Amino acid sequence: MKSKKTKTFGRLVKTMFSFYPKMLPITLFLILFSALVSSIPSLFMQRVIAVIEEHTALGNWGEAAAKILPMVAILASFYVLSLVSNALYNQMMAIITQGTLKRMREKMFNRMQILPVKYFDANNHGDIMSYYTNDIDTLRQMISQSIPQIIISLTTVITVFCIMIYFSLWLAIIVVVGTFLMTFVIKKVGGGSAKHFFRQQTAIGKVEGFAEEMMNGQKVVKVFCHEKESCADFDRINDELFCEAERANKYANTLGPILNNIGNVLYVVVAFVGGMLFAFNVPNLSIVGFSAMQISVFVPFLNMTKQFAGNINQVSHQINSVVMGMAGTERIFSLLDEEPEQDNGYVTLVNAKEENGELTESDERTGMWAWKHPHSDGSVTYTRLAGDVRMFDVDFGYTPEKTVLHNLSLYAKPGQKVAFVGATGAGKTTVTNLINRFYDIADGKIRYDGININKIKKSALRRSLGVVLQDTNLFTGTVMDNIRYGRLDASDEECIRAAELSGADDFISRLPDGYSTMLTENGANLSQGQRQLLSIARVAVADPPVMILDEATSSIDTRTEAIVARGMDALMKGRTVFVIAHRLSTVRNSDVIIVLEKGRIIERGSHEELIEKQGQYYRLYTGAFELE
Ligand SMILES: Nc1ncnc2c1ncn2[C@@H]1O[C@H](COP(=O)(O)OP(=O)(O)OP(=O)(O)O)[C@@H](O)[C@H]1O
Ligand SMILES: [Mg+2]
Repeated sequence: MKSKKTKTFGRLVKTMFSFYPKMLPITLFLILFSALVSSIPSLFMQRVIAVIEEHTALGNWGEAAAKILPMVAILASFYVLSLVSNALYNQMMAIITQGTLKRMREKMFNRMQILPVKYFDANNHGDIMSYYTNDIDTLRQMISQSIPQIIISLTTVITVFCIMIYFSLWLAIIVVVGTFLMTFVIKKVGGGSAKHFFRQQTAIGKVEGFAEEMMNGQKVVKVFCHEKESCADFDRINDELFCEAERANKYANTLGPILNNIGNVLYVVVAFVGGMLFAFNVPNLSIVGFSAMQISVFVPFLNMTKQFAGNINQVSHQINSVVMGMAGTERIFSLLDEEPEQDNGYVTLVNAKEENGELTESDERTGMWAWKHPHSDGSVTYTRLAGDVRMFDVDFGYTPEKTVLHNLSLYAKPGQKVAFVGATGAGKTTVTNLINRFYDIADGKIRYDGININKIKKSALRRSLGVVLQDTNLFTGTVMDNIRYGRLDASDEECIRAAELSGADDFISRLPDGYSTMLTENGANLSQGQRQLLSIARVAVADPPVMILDEATSSIDTRTEAIVARGMDALMKGRTVFVIAHRLSTVRNSDVIIVLEKGRIIERGSHEELIEKQGQYYRLYTGAFELE
């Protein structure tokens, strides 16, 4: 556990150095400098008092003043230096802190973009959110306040300690023993709270996750009148957080008073011993190292004892937030360490044109695509993208324990409209998840225009596929922005044309601001069917070579659906389309219909063939199910 903490800390420091290779060392130097400068005055104190002592005895005030004034001037300049370096490092630290946080957030977000879909299946989204809010905040606290303070305090402690030894070895020894006691307490208490701080961060994540889930599912909660239960569940998680936070902070908060008291005891002991030495002025003790105590040493020494204990106390206060910050940092690093989606593909997708019967690459959008296939000997071949998708003996499960697709073999020839039908949970969406490689297959092979899809770069593969997912997702922005999401360089006219093709134009033009209507919260101000039409328009504008429509028109009335179908047919003429639909009228005109049952293909053929066969499709289509 401890070595992990050290490692995390080391990594954080290294990361920060990589962000600010020049500024960070300068800042650290300024912090050190400022700490050193602020502990020097003790030395002068001793001199000043010594001068006063000496001259009081002689009654020579004029000479004393002449000696003291330059010292005071030096002292003042030290304070000014300290002030300036203090202001400087605080400014630089603010830049470093905010910059580090910004880049950390950036790193987290970038990492999140390349994580596999699996990661989001397995992790609570609100919990992931709390990396950006809560964990980042603990990091801020630690970098901007705790660490500088600790550096200052430790430096002060060390310099003060050196001066103490210089003044009086024995009194310094008393202080050392006291310090050992203090560090022992810090270690015991601080170490005990570390694990609770980590759990506290995790618990905060849970609370945020739950709140988010309930917000998203707010309507369901109301429909089932589950408000009370939600509150009870929340209380439970909130209690968990409370317990961990209480334990963590209880330990840490006890630390302050304990250390304060040790510091006070130390002060008293030093005062007592020093006072005795001074009062009795025991000269024969000098053989064991005691020198007769002088008031010029005694006064600053007491001062330093206070300074010493106070700074140790400071460290202990900051340890609290360092431990918390480390817990947050550990979580942030755990996200940054998540294994990204593997992509060993090297075949890319390019715009192509035909010259003298040969395919060549083109910089412009030609409407013709080709797979660019680099070979180990440096040569490059181009294969025209036709949209031929074949699966051979594919086995797949989301988890190793449960196979969802069994020994699946299928083909879609270029230009074919292939439909998947079957009961809920049969594996229709899963098949499409494999084609666009949201998940990788356990066994078997998938070929796309004769190329193993593992060899195709994922971005190229996905660019070649226009997918309308079963769950519609729209983003904050105007209707136009949402359509343009499909292809960022599409003009307004192209977006409107896509909307017309997908049958969305009709309702969009009736919206208060037409294409400029703002959508928020996943298009909460639209109907489900309208959202679906927009997601179809979004794909249509991308004009992809192959299209996958997963229940894309399930919430759209049959008349509008017919309009969508006509538009899509025009758009996809000569291209491969995969359609998934429960409403069988949607798939009727497909070239091939594949019937899935529990992850296996049980029938394949055109509508007429399957009807004639009087198998499962026939039963689904005629509703003969219930009769059996
Ligand atoms: N992300 C996932 N993690 C684990 N199992 C999953 C996941 N998604 C789906 N499954 C499982 O895989 C099986 C097939 O699911 P799939 O989504 O492919 O069904 P479907 O045929 O599309 O159903 P529907 O018609 O309801 O959309 C189901 O048994 C489901 O429990
Ligand atoms: Mg599905």
